[in-house]
Amino acid sequence: MDRYVIAIDQGTTSTRAIVFDHAGTIVSTGQLEHRQHTPRPGWVEHDPLEIWANTRRVVAEALAKADITRQELVAVGITNQRETTVVWDKRTGEPICPAIVWHDTRTQPLVDRLAEEGGVGRYREVTGLPLATYFSATKLLWILDNVPGARDKADAGHLLFGTVDSWLVWNLTGGVHGGLHLTDVTNASRTLLMDLETLDWSDEIVDELGIPRTMLPEIRSSSEIYGYVGGHSLLREVPIAGILGDQQAATFGQAAFEEGESKSTYGTGNFILVGTGTERVLSEHGLLTTVAYQLGEDPPRYALEGSVAVTGALVQWVRDNLGMIGSAKEIEEHALSVPDNGGAYIVPAFAGLFAPYWRPDARGVIVGLTSYVTRGHLARAVLEATAYQTRDVLEAVEADMGAHVHTLAVDGGMTVNELLMQFQSDVLGIDVVRPVVSETTALGAAYAAGLAVGYWKSLDELRANWQEDARWEPEMSRTEANRLHRQWRKAVERALGWVD
Ligand code: G3P
Repeated sequence: MDRYVIAIDQGTTSTRAIVFDHAGTIVSTGQLEHRQHTPRPGWVEHDPLEIWANTRRVVAEALAKADITRQELVAVGITNQRETTVVWDKRTGEPICPAIVWHDTRTQPLVDRLAEEGGVGRYREVTGLPLATYFSATKLLWILDNVPGARDKADAGHLLFGTVDSWLVWNLTGGVHGGLHLTDVTNASRTLLMDLETLDWSDEIVDELGIPRTMLPEIRSSSEIYGYVGGHSLLREVPIAGILGDQQAATFGQAAFEEGESKSTYGTGNFILVGTGTERVLSEHGLLTTVAYQLGEDPPRYALEGSVAVTGALVQWVRDNLGMIGSAKEIEEHALSVPDNGGAYIVPAFAGLFAPYWRPDARGVIVGLTSYVTRGHLARAVLEATAYQTRDVLEAVEADMGAHVHTLAVDGGMTVNELLMQFQSDVLGIDVVRPVVSETTALGAAYAAGLAVGYWKSLDELRANWQEDARWEPEMSRTEANRLHRQWRKAVERALGWVD
C-alpha cells in the first residue's frame, strides 16, 4: 500500500488540504475560501468556527479526490497564517469573539502606550520583534480588555489563547473532550511573548502585560508527534507530527534549511526569510528575528524576516474595491498593454508600512499621475509595487548579513505572473527561480510531519526533491533598475506620516 502525508494549510484567505507522496508531489487538493470581515477601518476578523468547519471540509475533499483513506496516511502536518489571534472557552469550545487577523491595526493606541516606556524596541532583545499591531500580544490584550467578561473568565482559567495552529490542533485532538493545547516554536515566535533563547514564554513580558499564564499553549518543536486526531474525524488516529507558521513552512518546503538560504512567498503580502543558522541575528535594518524551524530535540534554526503586508492584496483591492479588473489574472493583461509604468507608482500602505520601514503612520498613495497615465500603467504600478517592496527587504537583508543574495527562490500565487517575475529579476539584478511544486507552504508542513514519523529520513532527502521549474534572469540595465527604485523610494516618502 502506498503511503502519504496530508498537510493542512490554513491561510489568510483560504484553507487547503493537500496530500503529498514520498517524492513531495501533490496527489490531491481541497480548498475553500473563508469570509474576511472588516467591521471598521483597520479591523480585519475571521470566524474561527468557519475556519474549523472549512478545515474538515477540505480534508474530506482532498481525501475523496485521491480516493485515500486514513489508513494510507502516515502523518498530518499543519501550517497557518501566523499571529492571527483566537481566544476560546475550553468548556464550550466556542470562541469568545472573532479572530483578530494579523494585519488588523486596531491595537495601535495600545502599542503607542506600551512604547512610551522603552520605545518600540522594548521587547526586541528578547523576542526579536518590534512592538507593532502585527503580532499576537496586543491583540490578546485587546480581547481581554474589550470583550465583556473576558478578563474574569481568563482569570478563572476558562479561556485558551492560540494562533490558528493551536485552535486547529485543539479541535482535531478532541476539543472539549481533552483537546491538546499547544503550538510550535515558529508560531510562538510571532506572539511577542516568546523568549527566542529559551524557546519558552517570557515570564517578564507575560507578567508585565498581565496575561494569565493558563491561557498560553505549551510550546513544542516543529517536528514531533504531538498527539493523534480524535473523535469521528476522517483523520482519526493519524498522528499530528508537524507544525510550522506558513512563512517558515514555505522556507522549509523550498528546502532552504541552511544559513544564507532564502525564499520569498508572494501571497496576500510578501514574506522574505533568510536563514541565519543557529545564530539569532538582531536586525539593524528593520527585519524581524524569528525561529525558522526546530526538529524535535535539535537546536532551533533562526531566520531574518522581511514581512511586507500588502502585495497580492493590492491586486484584490484593485479588483474588488475599484472594479478595474474582473479577475486577478487580468492585471497582467493590462500591464502588458504598455511598455512601462508611465511614471506612476502605487505604495499600498493600507496597514501602514511593515518591513523594513515599520511606519504605522503611512497610508497608501498613488503618485506620478499625468494625463498620459492609463489603466495599463496603473496595472504595471500595482505589480511593480510588489517587486520594489521585495527589493527594499533584500537590501536590508544584505546590510544585516553583510553578504550578497545571489538567487531568490520564489513561491506563492503571484509567481504565475511572468511579467512580475521578470520585473522582479530586473529590479533586483539577480536570478529568480521557482520550483516545480509551488505549494511550498503545504509541502513544508508535510515535510516536518513526515520527518517526525520517519517517512522521510533526512534533510538531504528533502533537498533532493527540489526541482527547478522556471528561472528569470535580469534583462534590464542596472542604471534603469536603480532609477526606477529611486523613484519608488520617493513615492514611499510621500506615504509616510499621513496619519497624525
Ligand atoms: O504573517 C502573516 C502570514 O503568515 C500570512 O500569510 O499567506 O496566509 O497571507 P498568508
